[in-house]
Amino acid sequence: MDKKVIFSGAQPSGKMTLGNYLGAIQNWTKLQDEYDCFYSVVDLHAITVPQVAKDLRANTIGLLAQYLACGLDPEKNTIFIQSHVSAHTELMWILNTMSYMGELSRMTQFKDKSQKNELNLNAGLFTYPVLMASDILLYQTDLVPVGQDQKQHLELARDLATRFNYKYSDTFKIPEPYIPKEVGRVMSLQEPIKKMSKSDENENAYILLIDDADTIKRKIKRSVTDSLGVISYNDEQAGIKNLLEIYSKLSNKTIEELVSMYEGKGYGVLKEDLSEVIIESLRPIREKYLDLLNNKDYLETVYANGANRAEKVARKTLRKVYKKVGLIERKFI
Ligand code: AMP
Ligand code: TRP
Repeated sequence: MDKKVIFSGAQPSGKMTLGNYLGAIQNWTKLQDEYDCFYSVVDLHAITVPQVAKDLRANTIGLLAQYLACGLDPEKNTIFIQSHVSAHTELMWILNTMSYMGELSRMTQFKDKSQKNELNLNAGLFTYPVLMASDILLYQTDLVPVGQDQKQHLELARDLATRFNYKYSDTFKIPEPYIPKEVGRVMSLQEPIKKMSKSDENENAYILLIDDADTIKRKIKRSVTDSLGVISYNDEQAGIKNLLEIYSKLSNKTIEELVSMYEGKGYGVLKEDLSEVIIESLRPIREKYLDLLNNKDYLETVYANGANRAEKVARKTLRKVYKKVGLIERKFI
């Protein structure tokens, strides 16, 4: 039987955090044997907000290297750079002609971003979810691992697929969200009621996958706790709760085990031990990442092969779409 298809992507808009790892990438690595997975670095999505060309290039290669360093195997998965497969933007045009202004203006991410970018309210921000729908639909995707914040965009992809299938006949698989139960949110180290985000202005709020040992120690030491002085797991102690959750996820110890291990001990001890756990967990990822960045030829081979594989699948869907819409097939002479 054919494996089910998974598609997901992340924007090369900075470095990945421990939150991205525990909330997304670590989960992707667990899917690679059971599913036929496509993981893209979505560079075309990133340019909907202003980018500096040289940084975008570095971030794109950097994110690809981080995918691999986290354990995504380029033999088992199709790992590619979105702009290398032009079918994404071609399908987007077709879907643009079938998307309503009304439904796009209801997207909460568009509303947020348009408030923040009032002076640069480009049309790309508005049609961003249509490009995302194209990413997903080109591969006849069954499941899309995404965070809660992307569910509305996935809903749009489902609506567009259904609309197209209804108008022309069955063409696209209708994708489902895939949100694993055990994956919670990693919170900010500075304001533990907010999620850990790489776009936080305060760099002490997040841990990057590629932070070195001293940086990790410093950030954990400075993480916000409370003045109760008791290590227990509850919502009133949001800072400690978050530290315990990170500890538990990285060490395979349950929260209960940790709470009893640290009974009667101070926050300083917990922070010191947690730093070690994080440092040791991220060490292999960081080392592999630095190694990969020194091996540009290998990275090039990975994304060249990835684009070839993705292109074949994507073209097949796009050909069907063009035909159904009534576009004349190009002849080569
Ligand atoms: P973003 O960095 O917001 O583009 O998110 C990329 C992926 O990482 C999405 O699937 C998010 O749900 C996930 N993610 C980002 N931040 C966190 C976090 N603090 N905790 C858990 N998952 C996260
Ligand atoms: N919009 C997603 C985000 O910001 C990234 C993304 C683009 C994506 N295309 C996708 C995620 C297709 C899943 C599937 O996180």
